Amino acid sequence: MGFCSPVFKFLRRGKYFVLLLLSLSVLAWIATFKGEMVKSFQVSSAPTQTLVKGDSLREKFSSFTAATIRLSTPPPKADCPLESPLLQGALQLTFESSLKLKDVESENKGVSEGEYEPSDCTARQNVAILIPHRSRERHLLYLLHHLHPFLQRQQIHYAIYVIQQAGDATFNRAKLLNVGYMEALKDYSWDCFIFHDVDLVPENDHNLYICDKQPKHLVVGRNATGYKLHYKGYFGGVSAMTREQFLQVNGFSNTYWGWGGEDDDLRKRIELQKMKIMRPPADIARYTMVFHKRDSGNEINKDRMKLLGRTQQVWRKDGLNSCSYKTLSLERMPLYVNVTVDIGKPQS
Ligand code: BGC
Repeated sequence: MGFCSPVFKFLRRGKYFVLLLLSLSVLAWIATFKGEMVKSFQVSSAPTQTLVKGDSLREKFSSFTAATIRLSTPPPKADCPLESPLLQGALQLTFESSLKLKDVESENKGVSEGEYEPSDCTARQNVAILIPHRSRERHLLYLLHHLHPFLQRQQIHYAIYVIQQAGDATFNRAKLLNVGYMEALKDYSWDCFIFHDVDLVPENDHNLYICDKQPKHLVVGRNATGYKLHYKGYFGGVSAMTREQFLQVNGFSNTYWGWGGEDDDLRKRIELQKMKIMRPPADIARYTMVFHKRDSGNEINKDRMKLLGRTQQVWRKDGLNSCSYKTLSLERMPLYVNVTVDIGKPQS
């Protein structure tokens, strides 16, 4: 059979026909695929980049991936309401001797390394709670037990820092709080600082742990003093200052070793800056003080009146800017950041 036979001619034409059919189906497939991609973009997001005719397939794929990533980033949360709907008012406080740290940890699963933020709204303030501490484990446990749920109901972004004084030199609450301020700022640019005694538990969650235009004193009354303000200028126990307010007064004095005076000194610094201390209403700013004997190593500071007499002369050079210490350890525990520091000892 010769090459030019009619059968051969038919086969040759048929081959071109098949080729033509194949090319048409490939083109149709590409067109459908492109159409689907454009649809996905329109449905799934509002990409900044739209498909342009003639883009390479690779470019289309990378835009597609970028749009998908943007989609998986959650939309910005609305600000938390001015008044949290979770507040309960006066609380029934319990101090069970059987309470264990593990119990408090499992009650606060939303807290990680001492930090919490509301999941459904953006907190209005970022607050560091600073607790100076030495050998008061039970008080700390009671405080954590009440404070974590209390702060979560207030819908604030917060972290708790416990600043432990190492060694057995006389206790220095004020210097530990200066250290806490500086250490906490290494983690995050906190807006507000709460200086918190370990043995005071708030009784009403309307007592908001946020800062104001002026420094705020949160303890108007406590059970031990018949819920009356201790004295007019009292600024101890629990107080709140913004990052800037505390910096403006150069923090606490570092020179108050032992019990008393350091809170009065801070009040004097505030007054020297023409700031005015605010307080929440007395029926809200109430605390229960967990009973304890005076700690050894925290005897009454007999020099406190003398020191208070020189606040005006020394505040500029005695405070945050002169606070020297050595951090011995920093442990990120489930419910708080535990900072252990060597702050030295009183100069005799
Ligand atoms: C002390 C303060 C103390 C207050 C309340 C004052 O005499 O100087 O430091 O907070 O008493 O107990």
